[in-house]
Amino acid sequence: MSCCERSRILHVSTGRPYDVEALPGLLHARGHDALKARLQALVPERAVIVSDTNVAPLYARAAADALGPKCAGIHVIPAGEASKTPAELVRALEAFAALGLTRSSAVIALGGGVIGDLAGLAAALWMRGIDCVQIPTSLLAMVDSSVGGKTAVDLPAGKNLMGVFSQPKAVLIDPQALDTLPERERACGWGEMIKYAGIDARMNQLVHEALAGIEPGSPAPLPTVDLILAAIDVKRRIVEADEREVGERRLLNLGHTVGHAVEAAAHWELSHGASVAVGMAILTRALVREGRLPDEMQVDLETLLSKTGLPSAVPAALRARSDLDFSPESLLKLCQHDKKAGAADVALVLPVSPGCARIERTSWAKLLERIRTGL
Ligand code: NAD
Ligand code: GLY
Repeated sequence: MSCCERSRILHVSTGRPYDVEALPGLLHARGHDALKARLQALVPERAVIVSDTNVAPLYARAAADALGPKCAGIHVIPAGEASKTPAELVRALEAFAALGLTRSSAVIALGGGVIGDLAGLAAALWMRGIDCVQIPTSLLAMVDSSVGGKTAVDLPAGKNLMGVFSQPKAVLIDPQALDTLPERERACGWGEMIKYAGIDARMNQLVHEALAGIEPGSPAPLPTVDLILAAIDVKRRIVEADEREVGERRLLNLGHTVGHAVEAAAHWELSHGASVAVGMAILTRALVREGRLPDEMQVDLETLLSKTGLPSAVPAALRARSDLDFSPESLLKLCQHDKKAGAADVALVLPVSPGCARIERTSWAKLLERIRTGL
């Protein structure tokens, strides 16, 4: 292997087990031999690379070269959440047909969470399911979406409503790909790491250590490979315990019920990571006002968010827009489309103490009150 740095591997023991491997330089010239060895071993026949209009020009050539004659083609979709649709899913499947993919083919998902979710679902559907190798290139996709097997596209009624659980064949990470990731997107990945800090004591300590010297309002720093792996390890542990989200895995939705509502109310103009940050902050503020959390937890969360360039509230520019409705009633309606929603209540993830959260069935009336006080 000509890659100069050490490869780090986490093994995920789900029903279908797989490795998550981090190797700096994998998508760069010095990683060519290492990437070639991995992809030649993982892809028995042919594979299509699915990527987006930002990532493909940067990294698709490296993946295609590593596949060599096994590369069936590169399918590129427009970058952004607006592409995570049934229409783009069908376009991908039609591209698979045009490229002559078979039941022995594979999909390489090369990009952020949008590509991982869409290409993962396309792989799960193509001829009732073929392998998908995830190569996440955004921080959010590295620490969260590429691991755990959730695949989906959005419907007008809500996010991720059309999807299946389908674990990847492998996850290959080049942390050096973060060098080209825009700062705003790096912040989104930090949002998920701050989420892990809210549910795991060790991650809480590591995130605080990593952000200790950072001034609020500074650009989000580049995380170390150790921190990326620590975050993935939290997800690994939870997914192994509850692969299909019937129990503990719901903790990974901290901030997501209200966050997804904020994201939809913003017509997707606020990123997923920023929306989840706002969702976590709204709930934390509400619980502080209820006397269920100490003031310091709100101060601490808001400080962590501002050190990584994330908002703690819906940005004023969006609130001022007459075409967007962030009223508590409107946000509640959007929460009611959430996958965790029941007729009378929702399984809400509530912070309890630093690094600890729990799931509590919460009536819609109570959630409305919390959105009002925390907004
Ligand atoms: P994204 O895929 O839209 O990527 C963010 C932006 O960064 C895009 O413009 C992309 O082109 C660009 N980009 C990615 N990597 C780059 C790189 N290395 N260099 C330059 N540009 C790069 O969004 P995301 O934040 O990665 O993921 C958000 C999506 O993930 C949402 O749809 C969310 O629902 C989903 N998600 C899924 C899970 C899961 O478990 N499956 C978990 C969390 C989030
Ligand atoms: N991102 C939440 C989950 O994978 O369960």
